[in-house]
Amino acid sequence: MSIISEVKERIDIVSYISEYVQLTRAGRNYRGLCPFHSEKHGSFFVFPERQTWRCFGACGTGGDIFSFVMKKENVDFKEALMMLAERAGVRLDSPKPRDDAEEDAKARLLACVNLAVEYYHNLLVNADSGATALRYVTSRHITRDTVDAYRLGYSPDSWRAFKDFALSHGFSESELVAAGLLVSKDDGSTYDRFRGRLMFPILDKKGTAIGFGARALGDFQPKYMNSPQSVVFDKSSVLYGIHRAATAARRADHIVIVEGYMDVLQAHQHGWENVVAPMGTSLTEKQAREISRLTKKVYLALDADTAGIASVMKTIRETTGRFRESFGHRTVTDVPSRTGLASRTVLDADIRVIVMPAGRDPDEVIASDPAQWKTLVEQAIPHVDFYVETLLQSMDTATSLGKRELIAQCEPLLDEIGDSIEQARFYSRMSHALGISERDLQAEVLAARKQRQQSEKRAVNQAKRRRRFAGVATEEYCLCLLLHDHALLEANNNGLSEDLFESTENAQIYKALLQVRDIEAIRSVLDASLNEHLDYLLSVPFPPGIPDDEETRQLAFNDCVLHLQERLAKRQQFMLETILSRERDEDGVEAELAALERAGVESGQQLQDIFTRRSRRRGITRG
Ligand code: CTP
Ligand code: MN
Repeated sequence: MSIISEVKERIDIVSYISEYVQLTRAGRNYRGLCPFHSEKHGSFFVFPERQTWRCFGACGTGGDIFSFVMKKENVDFKEALMMLAERAGVRLDSPKPRDDAEEDAKARLLACVNLAVEYYHNLLVNADSGATALRYVTSRHITRDTVDAYRLGYSPDSWRAFKDFALSHGFSESELVAAGLLVSKDDGSTYDRFRGRLMFPILDKKGTAIGFGARALGDFQPKYMNSPQSVVFDKSSVLYGIHRAATAARRADHIVIVEGYMDVLQAHQHGWENVVAPMGTSLTEKQAREISRLTKKVYLALDADTAGIASVMKTIRETTGRFRESFGHRTVTDVPSRTGLASRTVLDADIRVIVMPAGRDPDEVIASDPAQWKTLVEQAIPHVDFYVETLLQSMDTATSLGKRELIAQCEPLLDEIGDSIEQARFYSRMSHALGISERDLQAEVLAARKQRQQSEKRAVNQAKRRRRFAGVATEEYCLCLLLHDHALLEANNNGLSEDLFESTENAQIYKALLQVRDIEAIRSVLDASLNEHLDYLLSVPFPPGIPDDEETRQLAFNDCVLHLQERLAKRQQFMLETILSRERDEDGVEAELAALERAGVESGQQLQDIFTRRSRRRGITRG
C-alpha cells in the first residue's frame, strides 16, 4: 500500500476536520461553517463514506484530507504529506543512501544561508537603509547585544539587492532558490524573497543557520514570512531558540514553549534561555521528540485571548498527543475496580499551562515586568487542570446532555493523570462541579471511553471498506488516458480541471501533466511519494483499456470528463437542496435567497430549475 493511501486509511476525515471546524450531523454527512471563507450558515460538508469534503458556498472547492490540509495550512502537497504521515504514525523514509555529492550540495545551501545572515545583519547594524529597522528593534526592547548574538538583520526593500550580492560571491541562482532565498517565477526569472523585513535567522541546535523568519516593519501582510521547506530547512523539526535552550532546559529540568520569535528573544535576553518556539504552527511530533530528550517538564505559554477557547483546547490536545508519542507511557496500577485494582497507562511527562494575562504575550509581559513572568511560570497549572477547568467554565453543564458532553471531552485526558491522589482529586472536583456522585461519574467516564473506542474502530473499518469501493475509477482512467496520449490534454477544450479530481494523488499527477509532457519529466516534478501511484496508473490494465485509435481515445476521454463533471454537479445539486430545505425551516425566504447567492447560483435557468423541482415535490405548480 502506498504511503498516501496508508495515511488516508489511518486518519478519519471527520474527526480530523472537526478539530478545525465544528461539525454537526446532517443525515449521513456532516456540516459546518466553511473554514475557508466567512459565512453565517454552514455550507461546508464532510462526507464520511467517501472521506471527502466540499464547500457549497462562496469557495466551491472540495477534495480529500490532503487538499484540506494544503488549503487550511497553506502548504504544498509534500508538506501536507509530512504533516499527515506524522499524525498517522506512518514513516516517511527517504531511502537515499548518503552520497558525497548530496552532502556537498547541502553544504553549499548552508553557505548561502550563512552569507544571507551576515549580509542582512550588516545592513541592520551598519547601513543607513537599516536604520528604521534598528529603531524598530530598539522600540521592541531588544538590546544591541541580543541583535548581535542572534544575528538579527534587515533585508533591503529591493527585488535584487541580495541576489546580486550572492551571485558576486559565486553562488548560482538555482542554489539560492533551493536555499529559499530567491523566488523563481514561471518564466524562470528570480527575485529576492525577503524585502524590507526584520530578519530572524533560525539556527539548528548546533547553531547553524538554516533559514529565516522575517517580520514586516509596520502593518504589512503577511506579518511573518518564513523560509520555505528545503533540504536544509525542515520547519517541522526545528525550534526557534533551541541552540541555547537545549543546555538551559537540561539544567533547569524544564522547558517553556512560547508562540513567537519575539517571545523567545525577550525571554533569553532576560536570562531565561530554556524557552523555544515552533515555526508558527502547533508543536509537531518531531519537535516533541527533540524536547523529550531534554526534560520531562514542559510548560506551555498559551495566549487564550487571541486564539479562542476551542483553539487553545485543540493546542493542548495536540501537544499532549505529540508528547504521548514521544515520551511514552508508564503503567500504574491504582484504579479501584470491583475486583481490586486495575492498571492504566499514564503519560510519562509533566505538562503545565502558563496562563497569560488577557491579551498579552510573553514578550510584552517580560519586557514590562519580568517578575510577573517569573510568577506566571511558577504558577503554571497541570494541563489536565487547565483543560477541565476551562471546559467547566465554558460549557453549559446544567443539562445532563451538557454534562455528558463535558465528560466525553475530558475522558481521554483523565486517564493520564499519573498520580492516583491527583486522580482522586479530579474525580471529586468534577463530581462536585457536575453535581453527580463519583461513582456515577466513573461509570460515565467508562461509558464515554467505550463509545470513543468504538467510534475509532468504526472509523478504521470504514476506511478499509472505502478503499475497496473507492469511487475514483473514473479519475484514474482519465489520467491513464492522458498519460498514454498527451495530445488529449492539448485538445482539452471540454473542461477537465484540477478541481474535478477529489483524490489529491490524482490532482497532483494531473497538475504535473499540465507542466510537462513525458513520464520521466513528470517524475521530476512530482513528489517522490507519488511515484508509486504513478506506476500504478501506468501499469493497471484499466477496463476498457487504452483504445488504439485516436478518435476512440478522444471519445473515451470526453466520457471521463463528462462523468467527472456530472459527479460534481450531482453533489452540488444534492447539497443545495439540503441547504435550502434547512434554511427554509429555520429562517424563511430571506435566508433561502441568501443561500442561493452563497451557493453561487447565478443563472435564472438554475433558479427556475430549482423552483420547478421543489414545486413538483410539494405538488404545487407555479403560474
Ligand atoms: N507566525 C508565522 N507566520 C505568520 C504569523 C505568525 O510564522 N504569518 C509565527 C511567528 O513565529 C510568530 C508567531 O507565529 O513569531 C506568533 O505570531 P504573532 O502572535 O502574530 O506574532 P508575535 O510573535 O506576537 O509578533 P510581534 O510581537 O512581533 O507582533
Ligand atoms: Mn507579540
